[in-house]
Order: sequence, then structure tokens, then C-alpha cells
Amino acid sequence: MRTLAAKHGPVMLLYFGPIPTVVVSSPAAAEDVMKTNDHAFSSRPDTSLADRLFYGARDIALSKYGEYWRRVRRVSVVHLLSPKRVHSFRSVRAEEAARLVSAVRCAASSPVNVTELISAFTFDVLCRVLFGKQGEGDRRAALSLHAHVVEAVGGSFPMRDFSPWLAWLDWLSGLDAKVNKASSDFDAFMEKIFKEHESDKIIASDDHDGLGTDMVDVLLSLLTDDSDSLSRESIKAVILDMFTAGTETTNTAIDWAMVELIRHPKTMAKAQEEIRQIAGSKEEFKEETVQRMPYLKAVIKETLRLHPPAPLLFPRESMEDARVLGYHVPKGTRMLVNAWAIGRDPASWEEAEEFRPERFLNSKSFDFKGLDFEFIPFGSGRRSCPGIDFAIVTAGVALATLLYHFDWELAEGVKAEEMDMTESPGFSLKRKSNLILVCKPMNHN
Ligand code: HEM
Repeated sequence: MRTLAAKHGPVMLLYFGPIPTVVVSSPAAAEDVMKTNDHAFSSRPDTSLADRLFYGARDIALSKYGEYWRRVRRVSVVHLLSPKRVHSFRSVRAEEAARLVSAVRCAASSPVNVTELISAFTFDVLCRVLFGKQGEGDRRAALSLHAHVVEAVGGSFPMRDFSPWLAWLDWLSGLDAKVNKASSDFDAFMEKIFKEHESDKIIASDDHDGLGTDMVDVLLSLLTDDSDSLSRESIKAVILDMFTAGTETTNTAIDWAMVELIRHPKTMAKAQEEIRQIAGSKEEFKEETVQRMPYLKAVIKETLRLHPPAPLLFPRESMEDARVLGYHVPKGTRMLVNAWAIGRDPASWEEAEEFRPERFLNSKSFDFKGLDFEFIPFGSGRRSCPGIDFAIVTAGVALATLLYHFDWELAEGVKAEEMDMTESPGFSLKRKSNLILVCKPMNHN
């Protein structure tokens, strides 16, 4: 898409089958879509996956713009992902960070699969935040369900979305069977979770500042609230959003950060120096200290600039006619914003392909909220990601933990410049290969 845009310009009209799709690839064009015409482009297209897996698009990410979306979005912003709520889950992150350290220590005698450990960390944090503390059996069930759901959502291109006449191809390719299974398994899983919560079997083991034990609890408690009440089906759909959008994007970002750091040993050393100096000689450090690590924050920003986990954001659909950089875009057009190309645009970024976190320390202060259209890994405007605080604090804790407790090197015989940086398409833009590293535990006493 970037190569095409270099030839045809920052606003392109493509046809995906019969679907007219505009792709924008410059900061000015993105601003026209997500700021100047934010309302016009605030809806999402119909998709068969939203219908079949997300309870008729009753989640936040895939629902059409309107009263219903405003309600579920408000519930997520006010009750699930507010700064206060995110902070209230700090003990979950601290416990999971300690488990991550033990897992790395256990594996440290031979090369460690860092990708797998990062993935387990984000998954466990999210699951505990969503469902409360679970036994090992339930955790394994959730993990296998997660793999099915992510495969059904991310690894597929339903042909019936291009034409109903092609639905038979989805049956033939096995996609229908995959989606049906993921949908019924998730529904059964949620019914079990509801029952446990309603019969108070889940033990309120985590301190959440009196804000409730977990997100399912919070949502169930809203069943009686007039203004924010959601049906059981809607709660399931919202939880499914977090279960997918919350895990895959975050672990992809942490993994790419570790990949870039290992390819840039001086940057890794600088990040470690900051973390070790600020955290001091403690076996465990408090999450609050991570907020005081500007270089680490710059590493996360630089990672998201080069490797946005959602490279084309989430598709939008125009609800009315609009103009983008002077081009007429009729109502009902699908819109993709190429955040990946924008983050690597040499017109905005010096040495755009280089990993240089310093650029975020010295220049104007780009934030994550999408106010600067050169840097939009979380989108911008009304449909932007409501999970930014959750994602940044989770990524910060994971990276600070890995870099504070261990020194990292590539396995013998592997050269940094020869590492395979191929991306692999799917739910989020991951690296194709797993990151395998050798580590040396640090003793901070
Ligand atoms: C590094 C991690 C993450 C990245 C890069 C990311 C990125 C995005 C992007 C690009 C969008 C679409 C924005 C648009 O259309 O303009 C989005 C939407 C969304 N994200 Fe995230 N996200 C991350 C983490 C999370 C987390 C941790 C959660 C929740 C726990 C979350 C929940 C959502 C939801 C519910 C939406 C839909 C918003 C709507 O349509 O109104 N995300 N995210």
C-alpha cells in the first residue's frame, strides 16, 4: 500500500472486490479523516465476523456509529479503562511480572523463547483483569479458546463479505466451521464465567481499591444501572473485544520493542541504565517508578512508530459525503488509514527507517492520543483506542521487568543484522519468527 501510495498519492481509491475503499497515507490526509471529518468517518463497515462472533456487532470496536456504540464506548471509558481503574489493577501486573521473572529464571540455562513468555504475561494480566483469578485448568481452557478466536478473527478473509454468492467458499475453506466453533466455545465459556461470578465463587483476591474485582464483575454490577445497563449478550461482546484487541496488540508491541533493543545494543544499554538507576537495588520495583522513565517511554513510542500492531488502524465507513484533501468521498465508502506508512514517512521523520528513541526525547512531545497525525498507532478522534493507558502501562511494566532483571544477548551464531524482520499478517502485525535469546540474571542486592 505504501508503494502504491508513493506512485498514486496519499489518497487512493481501491476496489476490494466490489467494495470501494479509500486508503490514506499522509498525516494531512489522516487529519482530514479523523479530525476535520471525524463524525463522517466514525462508523465501521458490516462484516460477517462481527455478526457471527461479536453477537451482531454488539461490541465496541465493530459496532456502527450511533446511540448503542456511544453507550458501550462510555461503559469502557468510564467503568473499564479509566486511569483510576487501570491503576487499580497494578497488583495484578506486579504479580504477573514476578511470575515472568521466575519463568525466565527457570528457562535461563538454555535459549529463552521471549515471544512466548511475553505473550503469556499479557494474556495472564488481561485474563485476571477480565475474569478474576482462575485455576490452572481454567487458564489453559481460556488460552486455547483465545487461540481459536484470534485465528478466526485475524487469519481469515471471509469471501461472503465481498459477495453473498461466494459464501460457499467460506464453507469449503473451513472458515465457517472455525468461526462457528469459536463462537459457541466463547459463549459457553462466558456462561460459565457469569455463573461463577453470580454465585460469588470467584474470590476477590486482588486489591482493586474497592472498585470491584474484575471487569466481568463491573459489567454485571451495571445490569441494574439505568443509564449504563448492558444486556448479557452485550457484556459478552464487550469482553470479547478486550480478550482479542487487548492482548494481541499489546504483546505484539512488547515483542517488537525487545527485537529492536536486541538489534541496537547501545539503546538497550541506555534503557537498562535508566531502569536500573531509577528502580534502585530492589528485588521488585513499584509500577509508579516506571512512569518516571522517559527513555523507556521513548523506546515504546519508537517501537509503535515503526511497528504499529494495527498497521491500517481498524476500517472505518463514511456515514455522509466528505472531502479528503480536496477529493470527494461519497457516503458508504470504506476508509483505511495507513498508520504504518505514516510512521515511516521521510517527509515527517528524519532517518525514518532507523530505530532511534531519542527522537521522542528531543523534539516536540508527541503523545499517544492521536493529536499529532504523524504518529497515530492508536488512531485518533472518537473511534480511537480507549485502551491506551492500559496498553502503555502493561508494556512499560513488562519491558522494565525484563530489562531490570536480566542482560540479554542473541543465541550463539545469530547476528543482529541477519535477524529476520519479516512481518506476518493476522489479527495484529507480528514478527514472523519468535524471538529466542540468551539471558544472564542480574543480582541487584
Ligand atoms: C499497544 C496496544 C494497542 C494498540 C496499538 C491498539 C490500537 C488500536 C487501534 C488502532 C484502534 C482503532 C482506532 C481507530 O479506528 O481510529 C483501537 C481500537 C480499540 N482498542 Fe486498542 N490498541 C491497543 C490496546 C488495547 C487494549 C489494551 C484494549 C483494551 C483492554 C483496547 C481496546 C480497544 C477497543 C475496545 C477499540 C475500539 C474503539 C472504538 O471503535 O470505539 N486496545 N485500538
